[in-house]
Amino acid sequence: MATLSRESLLELADAQWKRLRRQFEDLEALRRRLDYQAYLLAACALLASLLLGIGDLTTRGAIDRRQAEDLRATLEQVLPRQLYDNDLLAHPRRIPSAGEGTGLDQTEVYIAKKNGVVTAVAFKMLALGGYAGPLTLMLALDAQGTILGVRVIAHTETPGLGDKVEVGKSDWILKFTGRSLANTPARGWRVKKDGGDFDQFAGATITPRAVVNGVAGGLRFFERHREELIAATD
Ligand SMILES: Cc1cc2nc3c(=O)[nH]c(=O)nc-3n(C[C@H](O)[C@H](O)[C@H](O)COP(=O)(O)O)c2cc1C
Repeated sequence: MATLSRESLLELADAQWKRLRRQFEDLEALRRRLDYQAYLLAACALLASLLLGIGDLTTRGAIDRRQAEDLRATLEQVLPRQLYDNDLLAHPRRIPSAGEGTGLDQTEVYIAKKNGVVTAVAFKMLALGGYAGPLTLMLALDAQGTILGVRVIAHTETPGLGDKVEVGKSDWILKFTGRSLANTPARGWRVKKDGGDFDQFAGATITPRAVVNGVAGGLRFFERHREELIAATD
Protein backbone atom coordinates (compact mmCIF):
# COMPACT_ATOMS: atom_id res chain seq x y z
CA MET A 1 0.00 0.00 0.00
CA ALA A 2 1.41 3.44 -1.02
CA THR A 3 2.17 5.76 1.89
CA LEU A 4 1.98 9.54 1.69
CA SER A 5 5.00 11.57 2.52
CA ARG A 6 4.89 13.98 5.48
CA GLU A 7 4.96 16.98 3.04
CA SER A 8 2.02 15.64 1.03
CA LEU A 9 0.05 15.12 4.21
CA LEU A 10 0.82 18.68 5.32
CA GLU A 11 -0.24 20.04 1.88
CA LEU A 12 -3.46 18.09 2.02
CA ALA A 13 -4.24 19.34 5.53
CA ASP A 14 -3.42 22.91 4.45
CA ALA A 15 -5.70 22.67 1.39
CA GLN A 16 -8.49 21.26 3.54
CA TRP A 17 -8.02 24.06 6.08
CA LYS A 18 -8.13 26.74 3.34
CA ARG A 19 -11.31 25.21 1.90
CA LEU A 20 -12.93 25.28 5.30
CA ARG A 21 -11.91 28.94 5.86
CA ARG A 22 -13.26 29.91 2.42
CA GLN A 23 -16.57 28.26 3.26
CA PHE A 24 -16.66 30.05 6.59
CA GLU A 25 -15.90 33.41 4.92
CA ASP A 26 -18.61 32.72 2.31
CA LEU A 27 -21.06 32.02 5.13
CA GLU A 28 -20.05 35.23 6.92
CA ALA A 29 -20.63 37.21 3.71
CA LEU A 30 -23.98 35.50 3.24
CA ARG A 31 -24.96 36.25 6.82
CA ARG A 32 -24.05 39.94 6.36
CA ARG A 33 -26.10 40.02 3.11
CA LEU A 34 -29.09 38.42 4.87
CA ASP A 35 -28.80 40.85 7.81
CA TYR A 36 -28.80 43.72 5.36
CA GLN A 37 -31.91 42.37 3.61
CA ALA A 38 -33.73 41.92 6.93
CA TYR A 39 -32.90 45.51 7.92
CA LEU A 40 -34.05 46.75 4.51
CA LEU A 41 -37.33 44.84 4.86
CA ALA A 42 -37.89 46.21 8.37
CA ALA A 43 -37.18 49.76 7.16
CA CYS A 44 -39.66 49.34 4.27
CA ALA A 45 -42.33 47.96 6.64
CA LEU A 46 -41.74 50.86 9.03
CA LEU A 47 -41.99 53.41 6.23
CA ALA A 48 -45.15 51.79 4.89
CA SER A 49 -46.85 51.78 8.32
CA LEU A 50 -45.75 55.37 8.87
CA LEU A 51 -47.31 56.40 5.56
CA LEU A 52 -50.48 54.44 6.36
CA GLY A 53 -50.67 56.11 9.78
CA ILE A 54 -50.26 59.57 8.26
CA GLY A 55 -52.87 58.73 5.59
CA ASP A 56 -55.28 57.52 8.27
CA LEU A 57 -54.77 60.63 10.41
CA THR A 58 -55.25 63.03 7.51
CA THR A 59 -58.37 61.31 6.11
CA ARG A 60 -60.09 60.27 9.36
CA GLY A 61 -61.52 63.72 10.04
CA ALA A 62 -62.89 63.97 6.50
CA ILE A 63 -64.39 60.46 6.67
CA ASP A 64 -66.03 61.17 10.05
CA ARG A 65 -67.47 64.44 8.69
CA ARG A 66 -68.78 62.67 5.59
CA GLN A 67 -70.40 59.92 7.68
CA ALA A 68 -72.02 62.51 9.95
CA GLU A 69 -73.37 64.34 6.87
CA ASP A 70 -74.81 61.07 5.51
CA LEU A 71 -76.42 60.33 8.86
CA ARG A 72 -77.94 63.82 9.09
CA ALA A 73 -79.29 63.49 5.53
CA THR A 74 -80.93 60.16 6.42
CA LEU A 75 -82.37 61.57 9.66
CA GLU A 76 -83.82 64.51 7.75
CA GLN A 77 -85.75 62.09 5.56
CA VAL A 78 -87.55 60.53 8.52
CA LEU A 79 -87.70 63.33 11.12
CA PRO A 80 -89.67 66.45 10.17
CA ARG A 81 -87.42 69.51 10.69
CA GLN A 82 -90.06 71.42 12.67
CA LEU A 83 -89.98 68.77 15.42
CA TYR A 84 -86.52 69.66 16.74
CA ASP A 85 -84.15 72.52 17.40
CA ASN A 86 -81.27 70.50 18.90
CA ASP A 87 -78.28 68.84 17.27
CA LEU A 88 -79.46 65.25 16.81
CA LEU A 89 -75.95 63.85 16.71
CA ALA A 90 -74.68 65.66 19.81
CA HIS A 91 -75.85 63.24 22.53
CA PRO A 92 -77.00 59.89 21.13
CA ARG A 93 -78.20 57.36 23.71
CA ARG A 94 -76.54 53.95 23.47
CA ILE A 95 -78.94 51.35 24.77
CA PRO A 96 -78.11 47.65 25.23
CA SER A 97 -80.73 45.96 23.08
CA ALA A 98 -79.82 42.30 22.51
CA GLY A 99 -83.01 40.37 21.75
CA GLU A 100 -85.19 43.49 21.99
CA GLY A 101 -86.21 43.78 18.34
CA THR A 102 -83.61 46.04 16.71
CA GLY A 103 -81.39 43.17 15.63
CA LEU A 104 -78.48 44.88 17.40
CA ASP A 105 -76.72 44.28 20.72
CA GLN A 106 -76.58 48.04 21.22
CA THR A 107 -78.85 50.59 19.59
CA GLU A 108 -77.83 54.22 19.18
CA VAL A 109 -80.86 56.46 19.60
CA TYR A 110 -80.91 60.07 18.36
CA ILE A 111 -83.15 62.24 20.48
CA ALA A 112 -85.09 65.09 18.85
CA LYS A 113 -86.04 67.96 21.16
CA LYS A 114 -87.96 71.18 20.75
CA ASN A 115 -87.47 73.80 23.47
CA GLY A 116 -85.83 71.12 25.64
CA VAL A 117 -88.76 68.68 25.37
CA VAL A 118 -88.29 65.30 23.67
CA THR A 119 -90.57 65.22 20.62
CA ALA A 120 -89.23 62.22 18.74
CA VAL A 121 -86.47 59.63 18.47
CA ALA A 122 -84.72 57.95 15.57
CA PHE A 123 -82.47 54.92 15.41
CA LYS A 124 -80.77 52.63 12.98
CA MET A 125 -81.67 48.99 13.25
CA LEU A 126 -81.49 45.70 11.38
CA ALA A 127 -84.43 43.89 9.82
CA LEU A 128 -83.30 40.27 9.95
CA GLY A 129 -84.38 37.52 7.58
CA GLY A 130 -84.13 39.30 4.23
CA TYR A 131 -83.65 37.21 1.09
CA ALA A 132 -79.91 37.97 0.98
CA GLY A 133 -79.25 39.05 4.57
CA PRO A 134 -80.29 41.73 7.03
CA LEU A 135 -81.53 45.13 5.85
CA THR A 136 -80.48 48.30 7.67
CA LEU A 137 -83.37 50.60 8.52
CA MET A 138 -83.66 54.09 9.95
CA LEU A 139 -86.79 54.39 12.00
CA ALA A 140 -88.19 57.63 13.47
CA LEU A 141 -91.00 57.67 16.04
CA ASP A 142 -92.77 60.45 17.86
CA ALA A 143 -92.80 60.49 21.66
CA GLN A 144 -95.96 58.33 21.68
CA GLY A 145 -94.39 55.65 19.51
CA THR A 146 -96.11 56.53 16.22
CA ILE A 147 -93.96 56.11 13.13
CA LEU A 148 -92.82 59.38 11.55
CA GLY A 149 -90.82 57.67 8.85
CA VAL A 150 -88.89 54.55 7.88
CA ARG A 151 -86.12 54.21 5.30
CA VAL A 152 -84.11 51.22 4.17
CA ILE A 153 -80.61 52.65 4.13
CA ALA A 154 -78.63 49.52 3.19
CA HIS A 155 -79.52 46.08 1.84
CA THR A 156 -78.30 43.33 -0.46
CA GLU A 157 -81.68 42.24 -1.84
CA THR A 158 -82.18 41.43 -5.51
CA PRO A 159 -82.57 44.38 -7.88
CA GLY A 160 -86.03 44.32 -9.45
CA LEU A 161 -87.45 42.05 -6.71
CA GLY A 162 -86.56 42.90 -3.11
CA ASP A 163 -85.26 46.40 -3.77
CA LYS A 164 -88.76 47.91 -3.94
CA VAL A 165 -88.31 48.58 -0.22
CA GLU A 166 -86.10 51.52 -1.26
CA VAL A 167 -87.98 54.81 -1.35
CA GLY A 168 -86.40 55.57 -4.73
CA LYS A 169 -87.94 52.42 -6.25
CA SER A 170 -91.48 52.46 -4.84
CA ASP A 171 -93.61 54.18 -2.21
CA TRP A 172 -94.09 50.91 -0.27
CA ILE A 173 -91.91 52.02 2.67
CA LEU A 174 -94.02 55.19 3.15
CA LYS A 175 -97.02 53.07 4.18
CA PHE A 176 -95.54 52.66 7.67
CA THR A 177 -95.92 56.36 8.48
CA GLY A 178 -98.64 56.89 11.10
CA ARG A 179 -98.59 53.26 12.26
CA SER A 180 -97.94 52.33 15.88
CA LEU A 181 -98.34 49.30 18.14
CA ALA A 182 -101.43 51.05 19.50
CA ASN A 183 -103.24 51.45 16.17
CA THR A 184 -102.03 48.22 14.51
CA PRO A 185 -102.54 45.00 16.46
CA ALA A 186 -99.91 42.25 16.39
CA ARG A 187 -101.61 40.28 13.59
CA GLY A 188 -101.48 43.39 11.35
CA TRP A 189 -97.65 43.44 11.43
CA ARG A 190 -97.41 40.92 8.63
CA VAL A 191 -97.57 40.99 4.85
CA LYS A 192 -101.05 40.43 3.36
CA LYS A 193 -100.06 36.96 2.16
CA ASP A 194 -99.56 36.03 5.84
CA GLY A 195 -102.83 37.69 6.92
CA GLY A 196 -101.39 41.11 7.82
CA ASP A 197 -101.83 44.72 6.64
CA PHE A 198 -98.81 45.24 4.39
CA ASP A 199 -98.47 44.45 0.69
CA GLN A 200 -95.86 42.02 -0.54
CA PHE A 201 -94.30 42.45 -3.98
CA ALA A 202 -95.05 40.31 -7.02
CA GLY A 203 -92.65 37.35 -6.73
CA ALA A 204 -90.95 38.74 -3.62
CA THR A 205 -92.47 38.18 -0.20
CA ILE A 206 -89.35 37.51 1.84
CA THR A 207 -87.94 41.06 1.76
CA PRO A 208 -91.14 42.92 2.69
CA ARG A 209 -91.87 40.28 5.33
CA ALA A 210 -88.45 40.95 6.91
CA VAL A 211 -88.98 44.72 6.85
CA VAL A 212 -92.50 44.55 8.36
CA ASN A 213 -91.21 42.25 11.07
CA GLY A 214 -88.20 44.50 11.65
CA VAL A 215 -90.27 47.68 11.97
CA ALA A 216 -92.55 45.98 14.50
CA GLY A 217 -89.42 44.94 16.43
CA GLY A 218 -88.19 48.54 16.42
CA LEU A 219 -91.54 49.69 17.84
CA ARG A 220 -91.31 47.10 20.63
CA PHE A 221 -87.78 48.27 21.45
CA PHE A 222 -89.02 51.87 21.74
CA GLU A 223 -91.99 50.88 23.88
CA ARG A 224 -89.63 49.08 26.27
CA HIS A 225 -87.35 52.12 26.64
CA ARG A 226 -89.86 54.91 26.08
CA GLU A 227 -89.82 56.26 29.63
CA GLU A 228 -86.03 56.66 29.82
CA LEU A 229 -85.83 58.04 26.27
CA ILE A 230 -88.47 60.72 26.60
CA ALA A 231 -87.00 61.73 29.96
CA ALA A 232 -83.58 62.37 28.30
CA THR A 233 -82.17 65.61 29.62
CA ASP A 234 -78.84 65.96 27.77
C1 LIG B 1 -82.54 34.70 -8.02
C2 LIG B 1 -83.68 35.01 -7.11
C3 LIG B 1 -83.61 36.17 -6.36
C4 LIG B 1 -84.66 36.48 -5.49
N1 LIG B 1 -84.59 37.62 -4.75
C5 LIG B 1 -85.57 37.89 -3.90
C6 LIG B 1 -85.51 39.06 -3.09
O1 LIG B 1 -84.59 39.88 -3.12
N2 LIG B 1 -86.55 39.27 -2.23
C7 LIG B 1 -87.62 38.42 -2.12
O2 LIG B 1 -88.51 38.67 -1.31
N3 LIG B 1 -87.69 37.34 -2.88
C8 LIG B 1 -86.71 37.04 -3.77
N4 LIG B 1 -86.80 35.94 -4.54
C9 LIG B 1 -88.03 35.13 -4.47
C10 LIG B 1 -88.07 34.24 -3.24
O3 LIG B 1 -87.24 33.13 -3.42
C11 LIG B 1 -89.49 33.75 -2.94
O4 LIG B 1 -89.89 32.90 -3.96
C12 LIG B 1 -90.48 34.88 -2.85
O5 LIG B 1 -90.04 35.86 -1.97
C13 LIG B 1 -91.84 34.36 -2.34
O6 LIG B 1 -91.69 33.89 -1.02
P1 LIG B 1 -92.87 33.09 -0.27
O7 LIG B 1 -93.01 31.80 -0.97
O8 LIG B 1 -92.39 32.95 1.15
O9 LIG B 1 -94.10 33.92 -0.39
C14 LIG B 1 -85.76 35.62 -5.39
C15 LIG B 1 -85.81 34.44 -6.15
C16 LIG B 1 -84.77 34.15 -6.98
C17 LIG B 1 -84.84 32.89 -7.79
